[in-house]
Amino acid sequence: MMRAPVKLESDNWSVDEARNIYHISRWGGGYYDINARGHVVAKPLPGDDTAVELSAVIEAAQKKGLSGPLLIRFQDILRHRVQSLCRAFDEAIERFEYGGQYHGVFPLKVNELREVVEEVLDAGKDDAFGIEVGSKSELSAALALQSNPHSLLICNGYKDANFIHTALMGTRLGKRVVLVVEKLDELQNIIEIARSEGVRPQLGIRLRLLSRSTGKWADSGGEDAKFGLDTAQLMTALEILREEGWEDCLQLLHSHIGSQVPDIQTVRKAVQEAARFYAKVRQLGFPVEYLDVGGGLAVDYDGSRAAFDSSANYSLREYTDDIVQTIGELCEVENVPHPNIVSESGRAIVAHHSVLAVQVFAANSKTEGMQFEYGKQEHPLVQGLLETLCHLEQSSKLTAYHNALNCKDEAHNMFTLGVLELETKAKVETLYWEISKKVIEHFRNQEGHVPEEIEILEDQMSDQYICNFSVFQSLLDHWAIDQLFPIMPLQRLNEVPTREATLVDITCDSDGAVRKFIDLEDVRGTLPLHSLEQDGRKLSPYYLGIFLVGAYQDVMGDLHNLFGRVNEMHVFLDPDKPSGYYIEQTLHGHSIGDNLTTMQYDRLELAHHMKQQIDRAIKENCLQPEEGARMLQEYEHGLDNYSYLSF
Ligand SMILES: Cc1ncc(COP(=O)(O)O)c(C=O)c1O
Repeated sequence: MMRAPVKLESDNWSVDEARNIYHISRWGGGYYDINARGHVVAKPLPGDDTAVELSAVIEAAQKKGLSGPLLIRFQDILRHRVQSLCRAFDEAIERFEYGGQYHGVFPLKVNELREVVEEVLDAGKDDAFGIEVGSKSELSAALALQSNPHSLLICNGYKDANFIHTALMGTRLGKRVVLVVEKLDELQNIIEIARSEGVRPQLGIRLRLLSRSTGKWADSGGEDAKFGLDTAQLMTALEILREEGWEDCLQLLHSHIGSQVPDIQTVRKAVQEAARFYAKVRQLGFPVEYLDVGGGLAVDYDGSRAAFDSSANYSLREYTDDIVQTIGELCEVENVPHPNIVSESGRAIVAHHSVLAVQVFAANSKTEGMQFEYGKQEHPLVQGLLETLCHLEQSSKLTAYHNALNCKDEAHNMFTLGVLELETKAKVETLYWEISKKVIEHFRNQEGHVPEEIEILEDQMSDQYICNFSVFQSLLDHWAIDQLFPIMPLQRLNEVPTREATLVDITCDSDGAVRKFIDLEDVRGTLPLHSLEQDGRKLSPYYLGIFLVGAYQDVMGDLHNLFGRVNEMHVFLDPDKPSGYYIEQTLHGHSIGDNLTTMQYDRLELAHHMKQQIDRAIKENCLQPEEGARMLQEYEHGLDNYSYLSF
């Protein structure tokens, strides 16, 4: 159920009102706020006064020749997230007098970008923060990047001989590479390859827990999960290891019930089940050292702190406390040593650190169009609507709306049959939207129930703000699985937003849109935004920030319509700089040529084809030779342009 917008009053409007309607302090995790100028600021180190105005970063990017869409990364947020997670586990371990240690690993698939991974590893170097991989490509990157012999390198996912061989390379280099068995025959392969190479592998087994999460990633757990060994298969695996005399190779038991687990009860139950497996396996004489609780630590995207898909009903401290306490208590009862705890949190580490800034460059409005003069000889449908409008004050608003809707439908039918002129149709539609607007205002201004059809009408009446970005490149999970992200203007937050809008991107695909927005109680169908014009004049560029996009979105996006990777600015705090920060890195997004190369086009060949056509046009006297030369040059230079619109 979508929630209807609330009327915003311009009297008493303040930045605090903006904080409330966009819920910035609820989802921002202390990293984002609004300053007195009405601009969004990032505060990469909560508690520190340094605030980076996002619009200033956009300006700095423009000076360096980088236009929007622009991904802004705050490297300090990444560091803070890693360290917060490690401290939360350490504190829980101390609080519950837990006997093991915490070892975090970063699942590469959540964001494989080198800058991100290097920052995570550097932030976690004192905590021996490791890496989790799920493919040969990820393993190749992780083996080279991770040099700390105390950090774990956990290999999940299905493995072929090549994967196993590469992982064992790490073992021979003295790294803690754990090959997690996802299927029984994988274990046989690992044993054979390790034996032939004379290496004793460090093994893990993924448990197929019966505990299931809820929400969009629930299928990662439960009996039908894609990965893991069920109890009978686990027994067989233990038997195989025993026969081999490799009991001590089994060092880790792994579980993962899905990403973004919204409910802490689910976390607790899954950990309890995994810990019970650990205890039983230990009692069978296998000296397992690590219990890996997987990923799943959720991000509160909508700030509602509820067990809802886009949220979480728990804090980081509650999460770490519950895991440590649950495992500790169960081990006491089962009389087994406390294992070292491993977690594979991805989303919770990287989501906050990046913001996508997109420019709104135009709006489609239902009530914008020609202004008509109405005479005495109007078509009966137009006359009917004029009368409805004239008597609207005294009439039932719902009846007036129904009459208007009826006229609009009739006009549509008559036009299709060829018995209504274009101008009459335009007049009917203009009057219909005018009446609808007044009816909506009436319901908005009164207390009490708003009929559902009026709520739907209100969404239909909203503007479409056209944004220079691609949902398929930058916000894939919104398109694919309806995931919600916090979105808000980056400036003018000291002004009341007077429009309600949905967002559309620049791909030629009607799915390239955002029509669902965060709300504390439900989902909103529109977003309150500022008008792009004043007195018929276009106001200065209007930017929206799409927040918490650092997890998965950065790396899963596709090239639909050949809109490629976006420009990036990496911001680092520096107390020695007057602004308190510096731009550590600027990365150019994909050019048109880059995108075409990805799709197997060759730049030289394309230019050659163009030249042939230009030469032909010159020969046929359609072009002057100088014009032709200029055209070819422009075409070739154009391939270096950013694939998004430039203003
Ligand atoms: C095995 C494994 N570990 C860790 C993760 C990361 O999960 P999250 O990003 O929710 O922490 C995933 C993602 O689904 C996963 O499949």
